[in-house]
Amino acid sequence: MTIKDFNFAGKKAIVRVDFNVPLDGNGNITDDTRIRGALPTLKHILGQGGAVIIMSHMGKPKGKVDMKKSLGQIKDAVAKALGVPVAFAPDCAKAADAAKALKMGEALMLENLRFYPEEEGKPVGLEKGTPEYDAAKKALKETQKEFAKTLASYADCYVMDAFGTAHRKHASTAVIADYFDADNKMLGFLMEKEVQAVDNVLNNIKRPFVAIMGGSKVSTKIGIIENLLGKVDKLILCGGMTYTFMKAHGGEIGNSIVELDKLDVALGVEEMAKKNGVELVLAEDSICCTGYDFATFSVKPGAQIKTFPSNAIEEGWDGLDVGPISQAKFAKAIEGAKTILWNGPAGCFECDDFDKGSRAVGEAVAKATAEGAFSLIGGGDSVACVHKFGLEDKVSYISTGGGALLEAIEGKVLPGVAAIKG
Ligand code: 3PG
Repeated sequence: MTIKDFNFAGKKAIVRVDFNVPLDGNGNITDDTRIRGALPTLKHILGQGGAVIIMSHMGKPKGKVDMKKSLGQIKDAVAKALGVPVAFAPDCAKAADAAKALKMGEALMLENLRFYPEEEGKPVGLEKGTPEYDAAKKALKETQKEFAKTLASYADCYVMDAFGTAHRKHASTAVIADYFDADNKMLGFLMEKEVQAVDNVLNNIKRPFVAIMGGSKVSTKIGIIENLLGKVDKLILCGGMTYTFMKAHGGEIGNSIVELDKLDVALGVEEMAKKNGVELVLAEDSICCTGYDFATFSVKPGAQIKTFPSNAIEEGWDGLDVGPISQAKFAKAIEGAKTILWNGPAGCFECDDFDKGSRAVGEAVAKATAEGAFSLIGGGDSVACVHKFGLEDKVSYISTGGGALLEAIEGKVLPGVAAIKG
């Protein structure tokens, strides 16, 4: 079933959203992107004369009640965004009466699903790999089904709209779908948009296709890089992983971040790019610093800043951004692209001294988008870059997914999608 074809009038819909939003010390939401992302689905259901039961996780409470991770903290913000009062069920597994009392046009939000170990299906307080852990995990699999069945019993239909959590095979993101027939389960509008955006960069490619991958470690991005090397025309690799590539060719990288045990991985990426005819674009110059505080994103008092060739950085200097030659090189590589994927900043963009590379990338992506490219931006830090540089309206799509987007780009089938689409 698709959400457009379903008639919600007179139906109670249980909707899995990802309201795992960041909170400040006082419980105030510091970024409500994910709440805004779920509104089209929730408003559509209410607007058609249905009722919504909203369920989500927040943080990683590991199967225990932790009021610092209570969804009660964001209930009023959700009500304000939705424009209707939102009732709250303080125990997600004991919400049958609240769900029964719900009238059409009304909304109910369940407490954090992860207060129950059944949600994730991970045993609490046992060491992974031990026989006790394995036995507990097996037992949890059964109770997880019961938990999912309980959640399903609250509603007539199930809508999966939590793209940020779609890479998890949890009770509320996947198992619950078994308790609804095909006509009564569907993806929400946000999921549909996210899946379409990923499809645009993996399958429905308009060329040239340029991907920009940042990040400090090549090892954590290798799955994605390998998948992209079979699809892109140009791959810009930037951020801290630059120095593993420089070191692999015997370069001097000063105090820059490096994975000394992954030099062969870097060389393998270069080899694969050559074999596939992909132009690999790496930094040539780096803006370096003698004392950067990664906790406060600031230059320590008395520290110096200077630009070096990326493969000839002096001892005591740390590469934190790409230099002017590379900024121009990256912008040139993005020019004329028709499909763009950007994941990960080019440097420590949080500090104004080291945001030039990311800004150059962002502006080049915006320019190419204005000239007709489809651009997908995903991964917390590149999304933060887009916000810092005010480019939100100048790119095609900003994903709400972190790990989920990365797994989707790696080419993995997301359990949250498979549960609905098979
Ligand atoms: C996220 O923030 O990426 C999602 O909410 C998923 O959270 P998780 O990594 O704790 O499953």
